[in-house]
Amino acid sequence: MTFSLDNIVAWAKRRWFAYPGSDIYGWLANARDLWPYGVEVKKNIENNRWKFFVQKRNDIIWLDSQILMNPKVREASGHVWWFSDPLIDCKKCKSRLRADQLIEEYIEKNNLNLEQINERIKVDNIAVWARSFEQQTEFINQFKIKCPKCWSFDWTEPKQFNLMFKTEQGTIEWQGTDIYLRPETAQGIFVNFKNILDTTRSRIPFGIAQIWKAFRNEITPGNFMFRVREFYQMEIEYFVENDEKIWLECFEEWKKQSKERWINEIWIKEQKLRFRDHDKDELSFYSKWTCDVEYKFPRGRWELQGIAYRTDYDLNQHIKFSWKDLQYSDPQSGKRYVPHCIEPSRGLTRAILTAMIDAYDEEKYSDANWNEQTRVVARFNKNIAPIKFAVIPLVKKDEEQVNMAKEIFDKLSQDYMCEFDDSGNIWKCYRRQDEIWTPYCITIDNQSIQDGTVTIRDRDSMKQWRIKADEIRF
Ligand code: GAP
Repeated sequence: MTFSLDNIVAWAKRRWFAYPGSDIYGWLANARDLWPYGVEVKKNIENNRWKFFVQKRNDIIWLDSQILMNPKVREASGHVWWFSDPLIDCKKCKSRLRADQLIEEYIEKNNLNLEQINERIKVDNIAVWARSFEQQTEFINQFKIKCPKCWSFDWTEPKQFNLMFKTEQGTIEWQGTDIYLRPETAQGIFVNFKNILDTTRSRIPFGIAQIWKAFRNEITPGNFMFRVREFYQMEIEYFVENDEKIWLECFEEWKKQSKERWINEIWIKEQKLRFRDHDKDELSFYSKWTCDVEYKFPRGRWELQGIAYRTDYDLNQHIKFSWKDLQYSDPQSGKRYVPHCIEPSRGLTRAILTAMIDAYDEEKYSDANWNEQTRVVARFNKNIAPIKFAVIPLVKKDEEQVNMAKEIFDKLSQDYMCEFDDSGNIWKCYRRQDEIWTPYCITIDNQSIQDGTVTIRDRDSMKQWRIKADEIRF
């Protein structure tokens, strides 16, 4: 069963995953603060990735570079000139929209095929056609696309809008230097590349991984946490020799890895995933080949991750702008060259959202009196579930039960995120834990005091059994 994004938003708020940011001031549009369970899911996804790619491999190292960088970095990377979207304004209601998205959504909503489009304008491939301002204007005019907010047809000409947030560094207002909040974490990796290579004595092929925030002044943010202005990325830049056979193999390997990680780690349903190569006109300015990993969200099929062959573009640009030699010398062959780069770039904020969407379910079951009930369950992978054990004294006024439950909580919480719930209503406790998909609930009752056993309830089967308290394992 597919649930709407509104269901997910309501559940996220009710069950402490994500909350509107700056709420007491009436919210800052599209900003979401992660609440306790959201933070746990994020931390678990991050830790799993770190374990898989950094701890268990010896060819990838970890980096945490600065958000604010020398502004020349953004000139070198091309973001100052090329990192923009086509913007169009409605003169009547002043709505600001992305021209390409306006066209895409019109085509999708009206189910237009190429033949129908060709009745009004001559195009070969609509996916790559409306790229220039002239083409966008022609399309909007020919189809008389109206403003989705006020239904008027009164547009400005499309113009480029740079997506980077600019700020000032310096102590005197208006006299500082303009710098940018980073729009991707990747450049921190490229500018550290040579120093890391020299000081860690790494050999190509090798990779540098980074997880942290990026910022984009998106024209049309929305769809909950899907397109936001402040978000987390999980990027790896994997450096290889400039040899077509090598980078092609590497690209395929990263595609395979990515699929496996989405399915086995985040627990995404395979049938909802799609790998789509970019058309030539769709490629980012730095890429020669990109494959998007897309997911079937409730409102459409959208990008979760990009796997890009960035060639030696970035390192060469930094050589040009910094005047530094960033070449690699192969200690065995003595060859010197600028390495090429494969970049699997995954959005962590989108990974959290996707995990939540895929996990959310509503399930019918019969209660102890054979009455049909519905429970909300969130089928997270155990590894990313926010809470691993809920410890529940059956009778909240029974001091012995509460003390024993506290002891168990203290012991388990050394290693796992646990919750202590002494609200006293066992069924309500179970429902609450199902909603966040806690794998195990541990209940302490009278018998526990007598023989040291507790009841374990498994979230998936709802089966219960008794076990010695000191034999509890995850
Ligand atoms: N370094 C390459 C790069 O940044 P990208 O395709 O622009 O490539 C990579 O971004 C990933 O970052 C995307 O696949 C997406 O998951 C995430 N992302 C990009 N913009 C985002 C936004 N506004 N909100 C949330 N996630 C975003």
